Amino acid sequence: MSLFGRMVVSVLPYVPKPVVGIAARRYVAGETVADAVRAIRQINAEGAMATLDVLGEEVTQRSRALQFAETYVSLFDTIQAEGLDSNVSIKLTMLGLKIDEGFCRENLERICAAAHGHSNFLRIDMEDRTTTDATLRLYRDMQEKYGNVGCVLQAYMRRSLSDINAMPDHGVSIRLCKGIYVEPEEVAFRDYEEVRANYLLLLERLIERGIYPAIATHDDYLTGEAEKIVKRHGLQREQYEFQMLYGVRPPLRRQLIAAGHRLRVYVPFGEDWHPYSVRRLRENPAVAVHVAKAFIGLK
Ligand code: FDA
Repeated sequence: MSLFGRMVVSVLPYVPKPVVGIAARRYVAGETVADAVRAIRQINAEGAMATLDVLGEEVTQRSRALQFAETYVSLFDTIQAEGLDSNVSIKLTMLGLKIDEGFCRENLERICAAAHGHSNFLRIDMEDRTTTDATLRLYRDMQEKYGNVGCVLQAYMRRSLSDINAMPDHGVSIRLCKGIYVEPEEVAFRDYEEVRANYLLLLERLIERGIYPAIATHDDYLTGEAEKIVKRHGLQREQYEFQMLYGVRPPLRRQLIAAGHRLRVYVPFGEDWHPYSVRRLRENPAVAVHVAKAFIGLK
């Protein structure tokens, strides 16, 4: 990364929100449900499925967590009424995990019941290492009770292999991603190639255990290897899916769909777009540099 690129990334948290907003537009469907519905229609028309995410995390007020839970419950009505091919993804710190696990469980349970009532599906995103145990605990309980819940494991986490081995035998669906939070060396692989190697090891293990894998990556080395792995294991089209984030590498997405794979796009929307967008811009400083140069008149 260029010196200018490193500089832009390091100051991102301090850049005024409207400026980040210019670069963020590509990664976020908009602020309203109507914006999200429009984005999903487009994605479905391209032959991809969607997973809808309301932006928000690290909620510290109970009233805010309750509001988010209500929004999620109503999303299932919207998906059904609009005839969208979409499920839903959620972060537990949005439902009050950092306030109280019991309170978060109650909120989550309402959403799982709504998903169940609509024959839809809810995936619990994985956040930083301080939430992993609680997330897996709540995931297991909800999956056992409702059977329409999935979770996420991160290939950079050293514990992920044992987490897969501890999964129940039936009906499990795991999204496998590299992992986005900054974690210390003791708990996470930090080397790029080590993370890739672990990703492929975990994907093999998920398949060996009969777990439905959602292969979430934009790394074409990994998508290429994953295509070989699913073929070698003789998986049918409906026994796995690829997943990508809204606004990231649409050509790779189209390539996988054209090759006959199912692919789901993660579609975030909502007013709390700032932390999510900063993470995406850190992953791709080229976009941030672009906007920064335009902003300070270098382009
Ligand atoms: P990598 O970062 O190496 O990117 C590969 C290539 O993709 C890059 O070279 C670049 O070309 C392109 N690219 C990647 N990010 C880009 C961006 N923002 N803009 C433009 N181009 C970009 N993490 C987590 O900790 N918990 C979670 O629950 C989830 N959930 C999740 C869902 C889905 C559907 C996806 C795809 C990803 C996540 N993630 C996540 C994020 C994940 O952990 C990871 O940070 C990103 O996917 C980036 O990693 P890649 O595997 O794409 O590789």
